[in-house]
Amino acid sequence: REKPKNLWQSRWGFILAATGSAVGLGNIWKFPYITGEYGGGAFVLMYLGCILAIGIPVMMAEIALGRRGRGSPLDAIARVVRENNGNPLWKAVGGMAMLCGFLILCFYVVVAGWAFAYTWKMVDGSLAATSVDALAGVFEAHNTSPWLLGSWSIVVALVTLWIVGKGVQAGVERSVRWMMPGLAVMLLILVGYALTSGGFSQGFEFLFTFDASKVTGEAFLAALGHAFFTLSLASGAILTYGSYLPDGQSIARTTFVVAIADTCVALLAGLAIFPVIFANGMSPGAGPGLIFMSLPLAFQQMPFGTVFGVLFFAMVSVAALTSAISMIEATVAYLNEKHGVSRVKASIASGVVLIAISMLAMLSFNVGAEWKLFGMNFFDILDYVTSRWMMPLGGILMVILVGYCLRSDIMRDELKLPTAGYALWLFMVRYVSPVLILVVFLNALGWLGFDPLAGWYWIAGAIGMLAILGEVLAPRVRLEFAV
Ligand code: PHE
Ligand code: NA
Repeated sequence: REKPKNLWQSRWGFILAATGSAVGLGNIWKFPYITGEYGGGAFVLMYLGCILAIGIPVMMAEIALGRRGRGSPLDAIARVVRENNGNPLWKAVGGMAMLCGFLILCFYVVVAGWAFAYTWKMVDGSLAATSVDALAGVFEAHNTSPWLLGSWSIVVALVTLWIVGKGVQAGVERSVRWMMPGLAVMLLILVGYALTSGGFSQGFEFLFTFDASKVTGEAFLAALGHAFFTLSLASGAILTYGSYLPDGQSIARTTFVVAIADTCVALLAGLAIFPVIFANGMSPGAGPGLIFMSLPLAFQQMPFGTVFGVLFFAMVSVAALTSAISMIEATVAYLNEKHGVSRVKASIASGVVLIAISMLAMLSFNVGAEWKLFGMNFFDILDYVTSRWMMPLGGILMVILVGYCLRSDIMRDELKLPTAGYALWLFMVRYVSPVLILVVFLNALGWLGFDPLAGWYWIAGAIGMLAILGEVLAPRVRLEFAV
């Protein structure tokens, strides 16, 4: 068994770092805007279902794989599979995860650049416009200049790489410790304001009223992809952080803390934003600029708004940084451990590629707006390919690996759950998660062709059949899944 090298410094180290990775623009920027686009409550419910049925079990599996294999995703998986005399090709799952994290970062720096720029804009008065339309104009004006947009993205990329080059443990642990409570307080203040803004009940209803007509295959896949994205799964981040987790710590407990914190931040962000949107007659489906066109209005109207606004965007920027760091940590750890490249050199090398690709993503908002493939600009393509394809695919391969291909004592040994807890986890990764991912994926492609709501008993039936096959028949006919 590999000796751990860079363990987290404190008992809270992993929880802090994993929360720092999970809580980010996914919660504050992406969750509200895709919830707006997919029509509210039904999407929120599908997303919560995916967190419970897929996100939590997959997160436990990833942390366990990381800790068992003690390395970057590719090496950790290779090692765990070798311990089982399994097929070495499984390490490709780790390689794909690393690539996925890197591709996410290529558009994430652009969004984080918005948060950075808006911190500054809160100070210099450019957000003093008093209507949603005027704020939309500010957002667009910011994006039409490749120089402005590009510089902010590069600033984010450089700060990220600088921290990663130095080693993430100490810095991430320290910054998350104050950033998380700070962000929670800011969101609560915003929700408090939203309560008085006149749009609260409408915003609340939008978020939590279930409308069956909004349950489409497409929306379901978006919710599934977002569950992976928001928990930093299938992208190398959690697996790599898990490889720094000391042996004695409970994987299940940390997973629940991280998942609950992440979900609370997303729901609070929704509760803060949608009331402002409805109170000001804005459309919830306004797209990626949603929070930047709405929240500044709230800050203008509330007492001490400028102070809160600066603090809010500053904290969102820090939250974005702690996520960005985790996206590239896998690549840097890989180059460092496997090829002996120093962390600094590994950061510089990946930084060059990162900045080049992120500039293409940035151009999607100005000169490259017309460069389209399948109707999407480059920024959207990066988001689409990672969230809709790579993460669900990586997730399903990961649950097949831990559910069927590893000797069961390995995961049992890592997870150290009581019997019933372990049985539940195994049931989830063997039957529920893979069937759901497959159904959601094929259904979105139109290959199953059923309405996900009307088809729920088919899904439950498939899970049941597979469970009976796996648990009752397979052991009797001595059909061993383990490779
Ligand atoms: N979970 C992060 C967020 O919600 C994004 C992320 C994705 C981070 C993948 C790491 C890896 O903002
Ligand atoms: Na998140």
